Amino acid sequence: MTARPDTPDARDVFRQPAPSYTSDELVRIARERFGLDGVVEPLDSERDQNARLTTGDAEYVLKVSNLAEDPGALDLQLALLRHLQAVAPSLPVPRIVPTRDGLATATVDGHRVRVVSHLPGVPLATVPRTPELEHELGRLMGALSSGLRGFGHPAAHRPGFLWNLDDAQAVRPWLADIADPTDRNVVERALDRHAQRVLPVLDRLPAQVLHQDANDFNVLVADGHVSGLIDFGDATFGRRANEAAVALAYALLDVPDVVATSRRFLGGWVEAGGELHADELRVLFDLVAARLAMSVAISSHRAREFPDNEYLTVSKAPALRLLHRLVAMRPDFLHFVARDAVGLSAVPQHDAIVEWLRSPACRPVSPLPFDLRRAGRIVVSLADGAPGMDVGSDPVAYWAWMRGEMDAAGAAVAIGRYDEDRNCYAGDQFMTDAPEMRSVHLGIDLFVDDDTPLLAMLPGTVETVVDNDLPFDYGPTVILRHEAGDAGPFWVLYGHLSRRTLSTVTPGQCVEAGDVVAFVGDHTVNGGWAPHVHVQIITDLMADPAAGPDGNFEGAGEPSRMSVWRQIAPDADLLLRLGPETWSNADAPEELMERRRADLGPSLSTSYRSKLSIVRGAGAWLVDHTGRHHLDCVNNVCHVGHAHPHVVAALAGQAAVLNTNTRYLHRTILDYAERLAATFPDPLRVVYFVNSGSEANELALRMARTVTGRYDVVAVDWGYHGNTNDLVEISAYKFRRAGGAGRPPHVQLAELPDAYRGRLRSYDLAAGQAYGDDVAAAIGRAVEHDPRGPAAFIAESISGCGGQVVFPDGYLARAYEHARAAGALCIADEVQVGFGRVGRAMWAFELQGVVPDIVTLGKPMGNGHPIAAVVTTPAIAAAFANGMEFFSTFGGNPVSCAVGMAVLDVIEGEGLQQRALDTGDALLAGVRELQQRYELIGDARGEGMYLGVDLVVDRETREPATRAAGDVVEALRGRGVLVSTDGPADNVLKIKPPIVFGRGEADVLLTELDAVLREVDVTR
Ligand SMILES: Cc1ncc(COP(=O)(O)O)c(C=O)c1O
Repeated sequence: MTARPDTPDARDVFRQPAPSYTSDELVRIARERFGLDGVVEPLDSERDQNARLTTGDAEYVLKVSNLAEDPGALDLQLALLRHLQAVAPSLPVPRIVPTRDGLATATVDGHRVRVVSHLPGVPLATVPRTPELEHELGRLMGALSSGLRGFGHPAAHRPGFLWNLDDAQAVRPWLADIADPTDRNVVERALDRHAQRVLPVLDRLPAQVLHQDANDFNVLVADGHVSGLIDFGDATFGRRANEAAVALAYALLDVPDVVATSRRFLGGWVEAGGELHADELRVLFDLVAARLAMSVAISSHRAREFPDNEYLTVSKAPALRLLHRLVAMRPDFLHFVARDAVGLSAVPQHDAIVEWLRSPACRPVSPLPFDLRRAGRIVVSLADGAPGMDVGSDPVAYWAWMRGEMDAAGAAVAIGRYDEDRNCYAGDQFMTDAPEMRSVHLGIDLFVDDDTPLLAMLPGTVETVVDNDLPFDYGPTVILRHEAGDAGPFWVLYGHLSRRTLSTVTPGQCVEAGDVVAFVGDHTVNGGWAPHVHVQIITDLMADPAAGPDGNFEGAGEPSRMSVWRQIAPDADLLLRLGPETWSNADAPEELMERRRADLGPSLSTSYRSKLSIVRGAGAWLVDHTGRHHLDCVNNVCHVGHAHPHVVAALAGQAAVLNTNTRYLHRTILDYAERLAATFPDPLRVVYFVNSGSEANELALRMARTVTGRYDVVAVDWGYHGNTNDLVEISAYKFRRAGGAGRPPHVQLAELPDAYRGRLRSYDLAAGQAYGDDVAAAIGRAVEHDPRGPAAFIAESISGCGGQVVFPDGYLARAYEHARAAGALCIADEVQVGFGRVGRAMWAFELQGVVPDIVTLGKPMGNGHPIAAVVTTPAIAAAFANGMEFFSTFGGNPVSCAVGMAVLDVIEGEGLQQRALDTGDALLAGVRELQQRYELIGDARGEGMYLGVDLVVDRETREPATRAAGDVVEALRGRGVLVSTDGPADNVLKIKPPIVFGRGEADVLLTELDAVLREVDVTR
């Protein structure tokens, strides 16, 4: 019985010499007591006498116990083996061979003697290690641990048992026996870690009976596979984790990669049914280190007492080597390795932090003084052989190369990838205990000019501000601590900063999102790199609790350990929000343009000199193939915002159920028609569904012609009504411009009532009526052409292609008066301007105080889904029904109607008509403020979110500034703001964004327009 290791009886079994029977005596004992006739061969043992006993057909081990052996301990071993035989018969442990009397042991001269089956194989210590053996060892020990679950025995409780890892601290008095101060220090540190990290939780850890001694001599290997586990002499009751820890303490000795071996062992452990819970995994490697510390302390102590006993010191050197490696690693890193190895998420809080980072609660601002999401960007690779890396080791040359690339692409930032394997980390600090360097990047690099200020992305506190002044290192770093809601804290590291940073913030200081916390350093201070900031999220600082965080943190991980590193340092894009397109490099415009030239007709135009490949949209934003976000100021089709989830859901939901046509009854088409009609004044009650604005205007013309029995049309000059033959003929914007055939005889034009550039430069009633009277003149010309007079007068309610021309008061009223007097129907083309865009009314004709006979709708109606409509009166509908069927295959199908309904839901639900009014007014006021400063702006006009900015060369002559307008559009595109031009002279900037456009977006547009107007060469 051993007591505390510092008491004399602790060493009894070593003081009492091992039994020493002759071979003949052993043969006799085997025969007489066990009925086994054979020959014996001595086996090594520290304290017993063991021999291999070979009979004719089998092999056994004959074990004669030391006289000082505790009989209870022996009973424990026997009971334990019997238990395993019952619950885990396939486990390769010795089987008990009973005495002739059926007992487990015989007693000879006071010694207890037993015979067990001999397991095949040689000690693991004698064969080369393979990954398979490490894994199988884990399996063996996991299965054993599982098999011993629930086994109990009074003798398993061995208070003060020297090798009980629960009692690791008991070896402290022997620290003094370790001669080498460095070794002593490392053993002491391991014991300190045990005291800090294990002792406080020890009582919570599950306990059971353990083997506790899976050293290389007790594990057997046959034919390259683990074939047995022997020697249950150290079996004791202790923490379940100790079993794995002791086995690992042996298995890891002198392995090339501690982490890789541990993973294999632990993978095998759980695979075979072994359990280790989170609390145990947290301290597993502290236990490994403590066990090694115990071995070193005990053998150092014994070596002093028994200088001749080589066995005592044999494992001391490798144990020390392993201990040095383990103590050099962050304890929590090993904890995370252990979790990862058993299939848990490596960092316990990782998933919750990432969930928070992805949640709406997390609203990071850009870390750069410009909006990173809107910035033009290039992605660079720092991997070996990547473009530019030929000068990668020269920070000045590399930056010059990168600047060239950025300028060519119009990029404000160059981005270095997360999780990229790089060769450029050449410093010693990137060497690890593994056979590989830490070479995989754990942050995202943002290359910008040195001295660029860096901002906190979220509110938080400054954790550390440190200068890591080593070549290839970070130079100054700032680490900010943020709270991820209930998930607790996480950190953001900014590295490669300027020295000025060191006096910018101080540890403990609170910061708000957007506060300047650092400045980008140049190569003289940032570790020798081109100017950039390394941004890294850290879920766990893995700090030494005593010393606290040291301000330096791994920015690169070992390739084979990345499954763990990725959880310690998740992708910084979770905060930077650069978007998936940034990294994919797909859909490049050059490539698509080339295909388009071959595949599509050349009459299709594309916007902008530098083509845009748009891959995604949300709200008022469009995302290009590089992930850059562009502010969409022109798309009045995606009215309620790009990819609005409610609309998308309605579309997908109905498409998944049914899509037919109007020849069947379906409730949705009626619900939608009624809801839509209800937005119109009486008597506009009847709805026809079609697919496009053109189709709507075609139908409107057909209706007017059928109902009136006439053919000619009066239209407003510079109007556009659609792409069909009939509509091109009534669209001056088409027939008067390039490729147009001129006005056909059946079409008469009324002058465009343009209060800025037209005959009368006023919006008042007199001007409106005077312009309206021109419709009478046009009717007169129509009657001259065909005495029946015109079938219809058609007008957009605000002229789009005419240059966002808002009509003077009373214009449409007077025009309709004339048209109706002449027996023509009045068609209002609301394809561009309807559905609340003008803010003050749902339909723009309402601003003119008129009720048309026929209204055509299109673009915004389906938020991008092709649905359009004609709305008219019951009387006209009845007159139109002359026997000829009207059928549009797709018009009014259930999917389109579900979409149309969803669009109305959003307009109403999100108050978008009011928003169009508020934002539009603010925007118009902002543009008018710019007009005060920039002569180029001749006029700013519009209603709600349908605005025109008329650019002029000279405010007096109002000569259109066509070229400058083109330059402004291109410059805005360069700044990530999408507008286009309209008007006969293409000099009017048209602003007609999705009406979700808010004040923030309006500010972006105004700021960028201001910057562009400052730069643009008006004289060009
Ligand atoms: C006022 C107006 N009417 C009709 C149309 C034609 O619509 P669609 O292109 O859907 O055929 C347009 C299209 O730009 C338009 O602006």
